Amino acid sequence: MHSTTGLRLGVLTGGGDCPGLNAVIRAVVRKGIDQHGDELIGFRHGWRGVLEDIHEPLDIDSVRGILPRGGTVLGSSRVNVFAQPGGVDSVRATFERHRLDGLIAIGGEGTLGGAKELGDHGFNVIGVPKTIDNDIGATDQTFGFDTAVRVATEAIDRLHSTAESHHRNLVVEVMGRHAGWIALHAGLAGGADVILIPEQPFDIDEVCALIRRRHARGRYFAIVVVGEGATPKEGTLEVAPPSVDEFGHERLGGISRVLEREIERRTGYETRSTILGYVQRGGTPTAFDRVLATRLGLAAVDAAHAGSWGMMTSLQGTEIGLVSLAEATAERRRVPLEEYARYGSLFG
Ligand code: F6P
Repeated sequence: MHSTTGLRLGVLTGGGDCPGLNAVIRAVVRKGIDQHGDELIGFRHGWRGVLEDIHEPLDIDSVRGILPRGGTVLGSSRVNVFAQPGGVDSVRATFERHRLDGLIAIGGEGTLGGAKELGDHGFNVIGVPKTIDNDIGATDQTFGFDTAVRVATEAIDRLHSTAESHHRNLVVEVMGRHAGWIALHAGLAGGADVILIPEQPFDIDEVCALIRRRHARGRYFAIVVVGEGATPKEGTLEVAPPSVDEFGHERLGGISRVLEREIERRTGYETRSTILGYVQRGGTPTAFDRVLATRLGLAAVDAAHAGSWGMMTSLQGTEIGLVSLAEATAERRRVPLEEYARYGSLFG
């Protein structure tokens, strides 16, 4: 049943993929078409699809069966409009060609930052936050995080039994470029003996002391969970600098190798590392992520029909609300150090 005048809305997914993206697309399309008689145009490969006008119509049939699927049916990229010569003009041309009333951009800090800037240039954009890292500001949780924590926890459980059998330390590296939410939650859920997060530079001597204490207590193995963005305290360990992409995002992965080497060298206990990597991002979303993503998608359509351009849908407690893209992209949501400190007695 159509209740308002239909809009012509573009939809894109940008940045690293994340379980739940398809649930948002489905909710946007179902509600937009069924309730408002909207016309939905899916842009492929994130902002690249808008810049180069690579698109496809989205109708009810095109979103059938996608709710439980990982990844994004629209594809994604890490292209930044503002890093491309003539980027804003190309976006304007695409908006005009399709007579778009607005665009729903589903993405992380890079995609939402681009959405905010386009809003400053007069474009009608609404953001929907996604990231497994859970580090977007002004929303209490992002979809994808619950799935990533589930995958990482299951991996830690599996690594526990092999670590114990071999009397080895196992260093498990999880994703989280700037925020240690995955490391903290999966580490806590998996009963890790040491959890290292990007927010708190680590002291390798303290890490080794915790492992030695555990041995002294008769536990001859330890699980160390490290967020990929964790760094040693300045001047304590040599770590090679990472490369960066168009948004200035660092390409991480490898701190667990440094820890593996140093823990074994300093304690004399056999130590191995495992990088979980993209397995945390792939595959079907948990029920929680499907529901959160669906709610955020429905709210994005409401926001478009309310003319709330320049806003982002957000989880606030148990409710879905709207915050400005400016506020959402002003600061990352990182693990507060007092929250991290609360779990100190569980380590070692
Ligand atoms: O931002 C999400 C994330 O999964 C980070 O945890 C990770 O550092 C990054 O994406 C890797 O993304 P890619 O290799 O796809 O650029």
